[in-house]
Amino acid sequence: MRVAAIMRSEESGRMLRQACSGINGTAVDIHILGLDQVARNRALIEHHDVLLLDVDAADPAQAAALGDIMQRQFPGKAVLVAAASITLDSVGQMMRLGVVDVLPQPLRQADLVIALDHAQRRKPTVAAAPGAAGKVITFIKGGCGIGATTLAVQGGCVLAAESKHDRRVCLMDLDLQFGTAGLYLDLAAGAGMSHLLETPERLDRALLRGAMARHASGLDVLLAPSEMVRLDAVSGDFVTACLDLARAEYSRVLVDLPFAWMDWTCAVLRQSDLIVLVTELTVAGVRQTLRQLETLRANGIDSAAIRLVLNRNETGWLVNKSSHIRDAEKALGRKFDFFISNDYALVSQALNRGQPLASIEKGSRVEKDLRAMYAGLEQALAPAPQAALAAVKASVS
Ligand SMILES: Nc1ncnc2c1ncn2[C@@H]1O[C@H](COP(=O)(O)OP(=O)(O)OP(=O)(O)O)[C@@H](O)[C@H]1O
Ligand SMILES: [Mg+2]
Repeated sequence: MRVAAIMRSEESGRMLRQACSGINGTAVDIHILGLDQVARNRALIEHHDVLLLDVDAADPAQAAALGDIMQRQFPGKAVLVAAASITLDSVGQMMRLGVVDVLPQPLRQADLVIALDHAQRRKPTVAAAPGAAGKVITFIKGGCGIGATTLAVQGGCVLAAESKHDRRVCLMDLDLQFGTAGLYLDLAAGAGMSHLLETPERLDRALLRGAMARHASGLDVLLAPSEMVRLDAVSGDFVTACLDLARAEYSRVLVDLPFAWMDWTCAVLRQSDLIVLVTELTVAGVRQTLRQLETLRANGIDSAAIRLVLNRNETGWLVNKSSHIRDAEKALGRKFDFFISNDYALVSQALNRGQPLASIEKGSRVEKDLRAMYAGLEQALAPAPQAALAAVKASVS
């Protein structure tokens, strides 16, 4: 377990170092900082399992800073407080904020060991909600305005309409600043992500369900915030908790990500069963897609999970793009997995009306391509024959 400790003074840092010396299996990184400096030093904390904060409970400014850290900066993170000037009231307030444990100062090793144990045990209760079986398909793009959201929302409608009651589908619009899933589905601005961010300490399946907007196709959508938020308004821990809950609630979880890379977007990609990388046949599209592939590789993301989609593909007798496609595949070092036809009139009409493609025109080429793509994704998600056989055998014996 990795603990990031933010201590107010060299002296309290020394006290903690003493208290944690010799605790096995725990690495504590101690930083001497004020609570108001935490936001500027996210990188020191982001990848740690537990955050330990040195708080003077008698100082109202510190109590407010603690609330901000827990609710805005690191929602979902397991937080311990080493408190000076502790009172029953202040402990109650901190526990209501969602602090796992409040330790009086001077710190004692025995208290610290118990608190760390609590923190470690609390994390998985959010992470591993019962029945977490859903699969996550995340959409990213090789350039802006390439059609990633279109393929996610239109595909989501197809999947949801085909799903029986046991296969529920949701779309999480995590393109926090410029998400358009709600607009493309004509959904009134509602609770969405803003609601989860307001009360991260209450994050559970019921809160997630309540934050979803329902489209007529049966697709549940977690709308992006309607107000402008910082791209780092969410943390890796927070999105992980959201994904775990969504997996427990839905059998297919589609995720739309912003174009920019953040630590938390990387966390989403790492936890995705499939990554759909959407591109188009332009020099910029291929260049940016190559950059995405390289960044995915640099972050240790398995290329077997990636599916490359060429959107707005021109087809027909008069158009022969096959040599351009071959050139693009050569530049990218891999073949396209799926092709989606170009049909601006139909696609933009569907998005403007917030309807599935089939409601505008039945049996269109672009809809067939989209269905073929989702069939391919489903095939990739299906358990391998050997694994399926083993699962059947196990359930029989
Ligand atoms: N197959 C298609 N044929 C024609 N037009 C399409 C197709 N797919 C998407 N478009 C059009 O491309 C535009 C951009 O689509 P979309 O918003 O889905 O892209 P994006 O990659 O999500 O963009 P952003 O970078 O803003 O998130 C839309 O106007 C949409 O109508
Ligand atoms: Mg988009």
